[in-house]
Amino acid sequence: MNEKKLKVAVITGAARGIGLTIAQRFHAEGYHSIIIDNDETTLQSCEASLKDQERYAFFLCDVSDPKQVKSTFELIINEFPTIDALINNAGIAIFKPAQEVTFEDWTAVMNTNLNGTFLCSQACLPALIAAKGSIVNIASISGLRASTLRIAYGTSKAAIMHLTKQQAVEYGNMGVRANAVAPGPVETEMAKLVHSADIRTSYADAIPLARYGSTDEISNMVYFLCSPAASYINGQIIAADGGFDAAGVGLPSLRV
Ligand SMILES: NC(=O)c1ccc[n+]([C@@H]2O[C@H](COP(=O)([O-])OP(=O)(O)OC[C@H]3O[C@@H](n4cnc5c(N)ncnc54)[C@H](O)[C@@H]3O)[C@@H](O)[C@H]2O)c1
Repeated sequence: MNEKKLKVAVITGAARGIGLTIAQRFHAEGYHSIIIDNDETTLQSCEASLKDQERYAFFLCDVSDPKQVKSTFELIINEFPTIDALINNAGIAIFKPAQEVTFEDWTAVMNTNLNGTFLCSQACLPALIAAKGSIVNIASISGLRASTLRIAYGTSKAAIMHLTKQQAVEYGNMGVRANAVAPGPVETEMAKLVHSADIRTSYADAIPLARYGSTDEISNMVYFLCSPAASYINGQIIAADGGFDAAGVGLPSLRV
């Protein structure tokens, strides 16, 4: 019998926002989507909102906690010994002037954004090797271009980009690709929390496409990077940002 193997994608921080759309995209492509999140209430409403429960699985786990990551991935890999895609999407943002960022703020951002990405990748690796799968880490334009208020967030995202290259080089030898997507601003709960009215107006002015991106536009890039169409792409950071990175600061007088 020639049974077609079910593909599996694990997405962290996927109970809402960009992660949820990524999970739904993989699911729509026939994957089993495994949703990890540390917010129990959001995870429960996510589970309730996904009508077609088949091929979804839900795990409550804080990706910044090594013990929780170890036990969660043991459970996942026990059930799904081959994993085709790991999307390290869980992230938090604390925007404050550099001198007001406490060490607790700094540590919280690094723990989830950077340490979580490292820990989940390490825990998932045996199952990724088994599937010759790939990793996509969700970075940010804040890791490509520095700006005020993002000393912790921007640094964590820049570190994720280098972590991605490290993974691409070392895991590439094992047949596992690693790439990163750096989204521009996307309307989510996170954006509602940290994008003031001023920030929103400035983004519209500085982004050549003059708008926020959608969660679908980010999930399209993530899905492409995990697909056979991207089979020779490894160690790349791809901005999905409406041209924000390409434009640089730009002179207001030269804008069209
Ligand atoms: N929204 C934007 O404008 C934007 C721009 C660039 C990059 N990003 C990145 O995209 C990713 C998703 O962001 P979003 O806008 O959808 O945010 P969001 O806040 O709407 O969703 C993030 C999800 O991650 C979960 N999460 C947070 N910490 C976690 C942890 N320690 N363990 C497990 N789950 C955790 C949250 O509970 C939430 O469900 C983040 O990495 C973010 O930094 C977002």
